[in-house]
Amino acid sequence: MDQYEKLEKIGEGTYGKVYKAREKNTGRLVALKKTRLEMEEEGVPSTALREVSLLQMLSESNHVVKLLCVEHVEEHSKPVLYLVFEYLSTDLKKYMDRTGKGASGTPVPKKLVKSFMYQLVKGIAHCHKHGVMHRDLKPQNLLVDDTRECLKIADLGLGRAFSIPIKSYTHEIVTLWYRAPEVLLGATHYSPAVDIWSVACIFAELVRKVALFPGDCELQQLLHIFKLLGTPSEDEWPGVTKLRDWHEFPNWAPQDLAKVFPALEPAGVDLMARMFEYDPAKRISAKEALAHEYFEDDFEDKAAVDTLESEAIRVREG
Ligand SMILES: Nc1ncnc2c1ncn2[C@@H]1O[C@H](COP(=O)(O)OP(=O)(O)O)[C@@H](O)[C@H]1O
Ligand SMILES: [Mg+2]
Repeated sequence: MDQYEKLEKIGEGTYGKVYKAREKNTGRLVALKKTRLEMEEEGVPSTALREVSLLQMLSESNHVVKLLCVEHVEEHSKPVLYLVFEYLSTDLKKYMDRTGKGASGTPVPKKLVKSFMYQLVKGIAHCHKHGVMHRDLKPQNLLVDDTRECLKIADLGLGRAFSIPIKSYTHEIVTLWYRAPEVLLGATHYSPAVDIWSVACIFAELVRKVALFPGDCELQQLLHIFKLLGTPSEDEWPGVTKLRDWHEFPNWAPQDLAKVFPALEPAGVDLMARMFEYDPAKRISAKEALAHEYFEDDFEDKAAVDTLESEAIRVREG
């Protein structure tokens, strides 16, 4: 690890601190993230290696934060992996907070909302294509490069190979705000559609600068959702009343999203509604979303994003 010069702490990771650091021989900035391994075997478990190579493959997308290398060290005679990522200047939460929250703050420019959404959906489409769900998409897990206004997905779940602590290192409460209703209702099998729900919540937050469903427990979270989108029924979501945590809820009618988001163009409202589809089987996929009318016009950076993407693919494929 002495090839890195630790600079300041940039985040409190689930397993420990995340540091900004400088690679001594190249001078490039990186983020060091500590990961504790399952303690069942000597050396690095093969499941961890598999996950790391998966992460490496996912980070071939321009919209997933790049994993540069992995450092294996012992700390207090416990095996620790440090994941070394490219460094980005901020995350989407900090980015939004900087210009003031809510109605009193400066709105994120419409073209930038669209560009961020496009990059986010592209990154998620790439993960889903490789069979990986993120499961914890939220503004804190999206990194933003200020100067180029590019957005990349971070904190991809290393769910299986690494021991997930019950409480995070900082005892921070896990946020429910971006969690899909099927997860909140205790569905045992879930699909990539859970990520699309989170993307819709992030879309709404980009437009409003305030979280859409700020629940503080599972029940509150569901009530927030139902009050806006209507209480789901067997008609629109077959099987919903059979889910483990389903019970009778007040019967709210859905509100008109166009009125809730007056600043959002009609195509954007339509895309959001398709992402907020209750039945996960009917919810729009990331791939379908990329072809949605909302992304049809030539907004800022669309061409640049696409060019970068195809260049990266060309370089990769030699
Ligand atoms: N590559 C990076 N560049 C800049 N900041 C980062 C980077 N990775 C993480 N961070 C910051 O650290 C925080 C925690 O990192 P994250 O990977 O999300 O860990 P955790 O598992 O604890 O959520 C992020 O919300 C972000 O603010
Ligand atoms: Mg995180």
